[in-house]
Amino acid sequence: MQLTDKTILITGANSGIGLQLTLQLAALGNRIVAVSRTQNNWSQLQTLGDRIRLRQCDLSSKAQVMQLAENLRHEHPALDIVINGAAIQLTPTLLAPEFDFSGIETEITTNFTAIVWLSALLLPQLQTRPRAMVVNLSSGLAIHPKIGSAVYCASKAALHSFSQALRFQLEATNVQVCEILLPLVDTPMTAGRGSGKLSPQLVAGQIIHAIEHERQEVYLGKAKLLPPLMRLWPGLVRLILKKQ
Ligand SMILES: NC(=O)c1ccc[n+]([C@@H]2O[C@H](COP(=O)([O-])OP(=O)(O)OC[C@H]3O[C@@H](n4cnc5c(N)ncnc54)[C@H](OP(=O)(O)O)[C@@H]3O)[C@@H](O)[C@H]2O)c1
Repeated sequence: MQLTDKTILITGANSGIGLQLTLQLAALGNRIVAVSRTQNNWSQLQTLGDRIRLRQCDLSSKAQVMQLAENLRHEHPALDIVINGAAIQLTPTLLAPEFDFSGIETEITTNFTAIVWLSALLLPQLQTRPRAMVVNLSSGLAIHPKIGSAVYCASKAALHSFSQALRFQLEATNVQVCEILLPLVDTPMTAGRGSGKLSPQLVAGQIIHAIEHERQEVYLGKAKLLPPLMRLWPGLVRLILKKQ
């Protein structure tokens, strides 16, 4: 797919990987509809001028997601690509005193349910385009969880399964489904933890390359090791990932 002159919806567009995708895809001559929960970094995004439209939407709210889709139908009927980048990760274990009971639903809804809602609501629009794509930003943790962030890992596992099933459902259509399984990337989500992180600029470039080449399931960085290592030494991989 040639990535120029396309209309692209990006959720999580004001931070981390989503921000870099927004900047790089706009620089290639695409029109970006940038969605975020807050208006953080909007001044930086506004420098992209008429290549960007900013939309504030809390993806954990079904009403707001439905309103967003309704607005897109009217304002951007020719939508080519949806990049589902927004997510949150709450790290305390269920036993930790700081575990936030009310966060369970928000995390699952933001990371998974909202992507199903958006897919269902936007597919009719995507189907009107010659070629279209849904891109889901997933994680190596979808394949095997770590000890913390249990709900996050489960939400990414659900997204991994959904991406595969949606790809089956859309096999005979013009809409492709691309899942990107990421390693640790240096963004606000991972601030203060982990080492050897990839830069969001580099990762955004690799995601763009995957979209251009219409790849379906893409493991980046160290996540590439997961499928072969899980086949060879599943016990060892489980042990390593558990402690991540
Ligand atoms: N960083 C990593 O190491 C890593 C590894 C594997 C997978 N990933 C995945 O890559 C994607 C991007 O991650 P990142 O590290 O770039 O994250 P990030 O910098 O923390 O950005 C998260 C984005 O999600 C948005 N968001 C959060 N809750 C939202 C809500 N309820 N409604 C709308 N938007 C919401 C945020 O908007 P506001 O800023 O306005 O709240 C922000 O734009 C995520 O799907 C993440 O799971 C990241």
